[in-house]
Amino acid sequence: MAGGAHTPVLAPTVRHFLDLSDAGGDALAAMLADAQDRKAARRAWPKGKADADAPLAGHVLGMIFEKNSTRTRVSFDVGMRQLGGTTLILDSGTSQLGRGESIADTARVLSRMVDAIMIRTDDHAKAEELAHNASVPVINGLTDRSHPCQIVADLLTMVEHGKALPGLELAWLGDGNNVLHSLLEAAGIFKFNVRVGTPQGYGPEPAFVAMAREAGSRVLLTQDAHEAASGADIVVTDTWVSMGQEHVHNKLAAMAPFQVDADLMAQAKPDARFLHCLPAHVGDEVSEAVFESEQSLVFDEAENRIHAQKSILLWCFGKL
Ligand code: CP
Ligand code: NVA
Repeated sequence: MAGGAHTPVLAPTVRHFLDLSDAGGDALAAMLADAQDRKAARRAWPKGKADADAPLAGHVLGMIFEKNSTRTRVSFDVGMRQLGGTTLILDSGTSQLGRGESIADTARVLSRMVDAIMIRTDDHAKAEELAHNASVPVINGLTDRSHPCQIVADLLTMVEHGKALPGLELAWLGDGNNVLHSLLEAAGIFKFNVRVGTPQGYGPEPAFVAMAREAGSRVLLTQDAHEAASGADIVVTDTWVSMGQEHVHNKLAAMAPFQVDADLMAQAKPDARFLHCLPAHVGDEVSEAVFESEQSLVFDEAENRIHAQKSILLWCFGKL
């Protein structure tokens, strides 16, 4: 630079989606509306056919997987195709990440080669470091701390099954994990209430409870499964042993009273619905009777991962 003081050039704002609050209520509401519109417009089209407007034509999403995935992987891949774009996958076993290349360097390299990055990792700090060093949007496809993409699909599923979010009573049973954390964040944003039933020592991180309460949501924390399910509009559970926690012993015995079975569902409202992000361990966190019941929306919820990812991607690209 010839003479004069160096004036830092501010990078244009990049829209990362590490947690629901990165988008906020208005953007999330726009995502839910867009997802419903795009889903309705496609009807029975072949799943790989692009939407009429192909809004992400020419765009590439790089996906980093440090943990297993079926739904997140397939829904981002097919979702990008439906938006006119493409994807590629890096897993830690075959990329240089697995040989110790830093997250920061990976972020800077990928930012030159792809238009957005999704990461599924064991450590939320890695997703934050990736976003800090990337000049393209970074999306959290699940960390130990949160799973925001899942919750956009869950909100979509509730709304399309006629559940108004403000004032809704949502019961969570079992392990106080990453999925619950993002649900608590959503509760604060959309003003619904959460009744959390977990064994002692397995509750959610207090910061997520505080966030929801400060935003005006009622959060009940109880070790009584029936109290948690009482009067609920939506009953949600997840695996008792999340990825990376396989070493935890004696957990299953503590979780047993929190299985979502017909008796527990009977505590909820008669028109209550059941959600589970999947994969499920039927017979553990949910009985087969509930999993296969009319009340269970789990496969609608899984399909909605595609429609939700598309709206998340469009928001990240500034198209929503
Ligand atoms: N619900 C969910 O994230 O599923 P996968 O682990 O299969 O991606
Ligand atoms: N809580 C689960 C969610 C899987 C989609 C896990 O982290 O393994």
